[in-house]
Amino acid sequence: MKNKQRDFVDQIIPHRTPTQKGTGKAPVNIALSKYWGKRNVDLNLPTNSSLSISLPGLGTKTQIEWVENQSDHIYLNETKVASDDSFAQRIRLFLDLFRPNTQGGFIVNTLNSVPTAAGLASSASGYAALVLALNDCFQWDLPLKRLSLLARLGSGSASRSLYDGFALWHKGQLDNGMDSYAEKIDQAWPELCIGLLEIDVSTKPISSTQGMQNTVNHCELYQAWPDKAEADLQKTHQAIQDKDFQQLGQTSENNALAMHATMIATWPPILYWQPESVAAMHKVWQLRAEGCDVYFTMDAGPNLKLLFLKQDAPMIQTHFPSIKVIQPFSDT
Ligand code: PMV
Repeated sequence: MKNKQRDFVDQIIPHRTPTQKGTGKAPVNIALSKYWGKRNVDLNLPTNSSLSISLPGLGTKTQIEWVENQSDHIYLNETKVASDDSFAQRIRLFLDLFRPNTQGGFIVNTLNSVPTAAGLASSASGYAALVLALNDCFQWDLPLKRLSLLARLGSGSASRSLYDGFALWHKGQLDNGMDSYAEKIDQAWPELCIGLLEIDVSTKPISSTQGMQNTVNHCELYQAWPDKAEADLQKTHQAIQDKDFQQLGQTSENNALAMHATMIATWPPILYWQPESVAAMHKVWQLRAEGCDVYFTMDAGPNLKLLFLKQDAPMIQTHFPSIKVIQPFSDT
């Protein structure tokens, strides 16, 4: 696996000589049309394309430096992470793909403004920020599409976190993975709001990588997913172009529930929801029945992300007092 990934990286990066301390900053993103399932595990190639919205102000800032004759040191939110910790191990494996051919190690400082591994895609902003920091440290000067290919190796959804606003990750057709990258959808929607409803921010019981492999291998319903995902993506993309909020909300909510349906129909079952997640869904449906245009989406965790327009923000905040409201095109 590692050799395949290093060969892939060698086709993208111009050299392996670090020149300076590098920094990178990337937002988290929420998929409105989800990625679930890999067609190639080694190269992190997805079964279907996906579309996301980035959340400015929430994400990761990373600084990286190469130091000769010492081992890696990884800091998360200013605390040193033990080298046998799974977070540090995953970062080190990723850094192995970029190491110079000299003796030494990377000093990585990561600041996350989202809880790590809580279904809020901190790995997406994390790997995107790390790749931007590496690009700066090695002075590669690579365009965002190329950096998206690299970020994809760390976490699929990281390919979309290189961009502000809407991003589309093309699943690609090639076996070598060179056409599976994300690009920006150049469309702003200033009235659009995302509400983060935190139900439980503890680490999820099963990682998204493990969850999707189990679903692909042990769920008969999964066969229906790739076609459904592609059709939903087209509808979502069109809704963004038309600024048709109801179409966006309905398609996103239905897409998320269909993804979770494949997880639930896996054996052994995968259920990321908590009772409070289901209660919040009912509340959203009740508000909708009362005429408020609000929808939800969910990832591999118990938390909900609500979609609504700015005019409905006061009403949503009354019903969900703990919600954190973000305006992706107005906040910075
Ligand atoms: O990129 P990963 O391996 O963290 O997987 C992300 C999977 C979902 O968040 C559930 C969907 C998505 O497209 O972001």
